[in-house]
Amino acid sequence: MAKVLVTRKIPGNGVKILQDAGYEVEVGQQDSPMERAELLQKVVGCDGVLTQLQDKVDEEFIKAAGSNLKVVANFAVGFDNFKMEDIQNHNLAATNTPDVLTEAVAEHTFALIFAITRRVVEADIIAHKQSQAFGPEVLLGMELKGKTLGVLGLGRIGGRVAEIGKCMGMNVIYYDVKQNSEFEQKVGAAFKAVPEDLLKEADVVSVHVPLLDSTKHLMNAERLGMMKNTAYLVNTSRGPVVDEAALTQALKDHVIAGAALDVFENEPKLAPGLESLMNIVVTPHIASATIEARSAMGELAAKNIMAVLNGEPPLTPVHK
Ligand code: GLV
Repeated sequence: MAKVLVTRKIPGNGVKILQDAGYEVEVGQQDSPMERAELLQKVVGCDGVLTQLQDKVDEEFIKAAGSNLKVVANFAVGFDNFKMEDIQNHNLAATNTPDVLTEAVAEHTFALIFAITRRVVEADIIAHKQSQAFGPEVLLGMELKGKTLGVLGLGRIGGRVAEIGKCMGMNVIYYDVKQNSEFEQKVGAAFKAVPEDLLKEADVVSVHVPLLDSTKHLMNAERLGMMKNTAYLVNTSRGPVVDEAALTQALKDHVIAGAALDVFENEPKLAPGLESLMNIVVTPHIASATIEARSAMGELAAKNIMAVLNGEPPLTPVHK
């Protein structure tokens, strides 16, 4: 009987799909990512592992699992926790969960955009104190209609954020390594050949690039300095894409108007000083956290494992 480890409890039918397929399924019961030592011990003899984005899959993991291992299925669209070279050297299948979380992440991106531009969190704290009534100059924010949304990275999620921005009456500009003329025509978005041109124009910059060597600290002090001082930065991609120390300084110095982050360089920690600022809204990596998306992610990951263990191609493979 094939053995599958699901490293942490997941919502929806993912585990049931694996059990119904007849596998011996072990599910991590802890409320946090599995400790490395435990992970390396639990993967021994597994044919498939349903991993979380904190589970590093590298040579050490693969060696610990042993020769039965055929597939690692990430419960995430991002897969920077996979050392793809090691995975490919061992001819293992690796999969992620694209599409099923696009809407959830795009909607949360807009939740953050509204929260920071309309100062919702700040206002909530003040309203709880019951001391502030209507005031002509109280908690003024920025309207989105007619403003420019700059999307950095036009993948599935960036594309959906651009569409929602368009529905909000925003002008949409985007930067990506590849120009997408079809998308430009469909949505009415304008391409910028370099990120710098986007940063100078956008009122809201929303980051949707994968974490790669080339995108680490894409938003550094210099690029933050190119943004308008009335503009906002939003990041729902991966923490290290933004240099958080540089962002903290930029927010303190009012180089930009504000930021909203769902991801951090060293989760769950924030860069020193960030936690005390009021011109930032933070959420703990919950952009895909809807019942719909998280259930579908578990089911897709389970189906990827089943496909590979049945000798079929995975539904959503990832490559280097
Ligand atoms: C979450 O961050 C994901 O990559 O799905």
